[in-house]
This record gives sequence, C-alpha cells and structure tokens, in this order.
Amino acid sequence: MKKEVHQFSYEVYDSAAELSPADAALLKEAAAVTVHAYAPYSRFRVGAAAKLDNGRVVTGTNQENASFPAGICAERVLMSTASSLYPGVGIETLAVSYHNDNGASDTPISPCGICRQSLQEFEQRTGKHIRLLLGGEKGPVYVFPRSGLLLPFAFTADELG
Ligand code: THU
Repeated sequence: MKKEVHQFSYEVYDSAAELSPADAALLKEAAAVTVHAYAPYSRFRVGAAAKLDNGRVVTGTNQENASFPAGICAERVLMSTASSLYPGVGIETLAVSYHNDNGASDTPISPCGICRQSLQEFEQRTGKHIRLLLGGEKGPVYVFPRSGLLLPFAFTADELG
C-alpha cells in the first residue's frame, strides 16, 4: 500500500477590485443577470457569465420548478446556451455570482456536484480548460485555473469505451 496526495492551488482575492478589469467586468455581469433568475422557491438567485473562446459572452441563471428536481442551475443553463449558440466553442472564463434574498451574498459559492460533472465534460469535449471566477456581490473572489480541479477522480466518457 502507498498513500497518494491530491492537491491543487487557486487564487484568493480580497475583493473584485483586485481583479483585472476583464475579470471584474465578467463577475459584474454574472451579478447583474441574477435579476433574471427564476428562483421563487429558494430565493437564491445565481448568475453565471462566460467569455467564450470566440470572444462572445453568454450568461445563464438558475431556473427552478415546483417539481424541485426539475430546476436547473445557472452554470448548466449557461453551458446549454453556449453549446446551442456556438457548438464546440470552448469557455475561457466562467464567472458565478449570486444574490440571496434571505441573507448575505458576500462569500463565493461554488458549483454543485452535477454542475461539476457537466463542467468536466464541457472541458473534455471542447478540449479547453474552463477558468472559474467565484464571488458574491462583495467580499473575496476565488479563481480556479480549470473547473476540472473541483471534481477529482471524475467519471468521464473515457470509461464508457
Ligand atoms: N444553484 C445554482 O444555480 N448554482 C450553484 O452553483 C449553486 C446552486 C441554484 C440551484 C437552486 O435553484 C438554488 O441555487 C438553491 O440551491
């Protein structure tokens, strides 16, 4: 038996003011689109904005349903939109922000497990790493160089043969 260690590094900024102007603008766009979330059940509005490899910016927001599992996260709405409008084009940077009607919105949230799985496959099929920018309306911002880092030992299409 031998033990293995898995680790990765990411960047922590004290606030969006420390980001490059391009990153700050993308995170601001993610925060701005939270008004389009349909979140009457959780009151937790998530916004995502991505810069694609073709230079376009696409956005997504969470869309809930009275049948709760039918709801879909902002990140997957964004990926579906990106893939439908610009098939095969990679995502260079994906920013996620939120507005919690029930509390503070000042610490970064990170994609749920299902979204991590979808992000992994988006990276794989486009052959491009997705850089993640995570931040609330204020407070710290986390930057991950590629979303796949958030899902180590992922089950992937490779396993299906
Ligand atoms: N949600 C997202 O859209 N993205 C995340 O990264 C975390 C959670 C949504 C799902 C649901 O509509 C609401 O936030 C509360 O979980």
